[in-house]
Amino acid sequence: MNLRIKSLDEILATAEKKSLHRSLGGFQLTMLGVGAIIGTGIFVLTAEAAQKAGPGMMLSFILAGFVCAVTALCYAEMASMIPVSGSAYTYTYAVLGEVLAWVVGWALVLEYSIAGSTVAVGWSGYMVGLLKHVHELIPFIPNVVIPQAWAAGPFDGGIINVPALVISLLVTWLLVIGTKESALVNAVLVTIKVVALTAFIVLALPAMHMHNFEPFAPNGYIGKVGVGAAAASIFFAYVGFDAVSTAAEETKNPNRNIPIGLIGSLAICTVFYLLVAAGAIGSFGAQPVTGPGGVVLEPGSIGLAQACEGLHALACSHEPLAFVLREIHWPNVGNLIGLAAGLALPSVILMMIFGQTRIFFTMSRDGLLPPVFSKIHPKYNTPHVVTICTGLFVSAFAALFPVGKLADITNSGTLFAFLIVAVGVMILRVRDPARHRSFRAPAIWFMGPLAVLGCLFLFSQLSTYTEELFLGWALLGLVLYFLYGRRHSNVAKGI
Ligand code: ALA
Repeated sequence: MNLRIKSLDEILATAEKKSLHRSLGGFQLTMLGVGAIIGTGIFVLTAEAAQKAGPGMMLSFILAGFVCAVTALCYAEMASMIPVSGSAYTYTYAVLGEVLAWVVGWALVLEYSIAGSTVAVGWSGYMVGLLKHVHELIPFIPNVVIPQAWAAGPFDGGIINVPALVISLLVTWLLVIGTKESALVNAVLVTIKVVALTAFIVLALPAMHMHNFEPFAPNGYIGKVGVGAAAASIFFAYVGFDAVSTAAEETKNPNRNIPIGLIGSLAICTVFYLLVAAGAIGSFGAQPVTGPGGVVLEPGSIGLAQACEGLHALACSHEPLAFVLREIHWPNVGNLIGLAAGLALPSVILMMIFGQTRIFFTMSRDGLLPPVFSKIHPKYNTPHVVTICTGLFVSAFAALFPVGKLADITNSGTLFAFLIVAVGVMILRVRDPARHRSFRAPAIWFMGPLAVLGCLFLFSQLSTYTEELFLGWALLGLVLYFLYGRRHSNVAKGI
């Protein structure tokens, strides 16, 4: 079969000829990474990780961070060689051909769109908690209680998650009218997030009791629950580092600064995450909630939602960091953390939906999706059709599904895309050794296989349901490809 590989030279030639000013240094890149990485993962999924691994989630954070670090190096080499939009989709087109590129593009829908939904649900958890306690923070505003039925989807003990729906629609509207996040806004939001996490660490760590770490891994290490499973979920907390890889072209001395930015931001986030996890576990406790007969209840299930009624457990909270601080008698700092999450998380949703629209846009420009997806709004100058379609998709998932399930689905697509990128880097080292790479992954024949194995391992620890959903999604994608993309592709038409 003709693989329809797009030549690298063609890709580079069709991409806009913009030579970007090389202005970013190691420090700026690290900050860019930290801004893109910290979000719902640490603010919300800590509860999910506690339910899966208990205090052993400390190891889960290390494991997930390590897999990201090795993958990030491969990603950075690819980005430095093919610095055009479309990320993993474009890389795959150039290395493995159109069919796999389509599947990767299709999997990136999970990485970006479903990640947007995940963050929206995370935001909802904090806003609902903040509104319930707002009177403590601002005395002239009365507390507002949003009933569970309207604050969670049907799989999480509610009917529809109204706040998550509203925030996704609002962000979509902002994107349609052309809102972009400025560097200044990004810097302010990074500061808010870092200050919030630091406040949590400073207050929770001194309240630590070592007995809260026992038993350390009540659900074991490997399997669909346990440390490995929590790592597969918490992987979400590190997604976003690709922001650093894709800035290769704008970086001074990329061979030195890209690894500094990548490893630096991942290392900083890992340290923050470990301290936050240690604070939450040590000060309050993080043992999983069990059902009758001691069975571990599945996160994001009706069973867990029912068992959590009236129970004060980390695994039950939709706003775990604020919850822990309230429990250890810092209610207003807890509320301020809720406010910080409320302010900072929408920008992560914005980045996710924006990323998705750019991938669809590239696929449409390649003829693999209908041309309407690359239509530009005459007044706002934005790809409004694709933005509205993506926004509605993100909003629907945010309204209906629990945060942990969404995060796992995101991770399945992301792990697949990362795996293909790691394979692609190794293939290109053999097939095209002389091509200029402004960044080369060190010890590729060690890092590459390690990245592949790491992604496979984490994928194997996702719930069976998530894995089946991913396979179903990939098959649906292939059917659509053969019905539409295969015939309309520009490569097929020789354009
Ligand atoms: N890493 C990002 C977050 O945790 C996606 O929200």
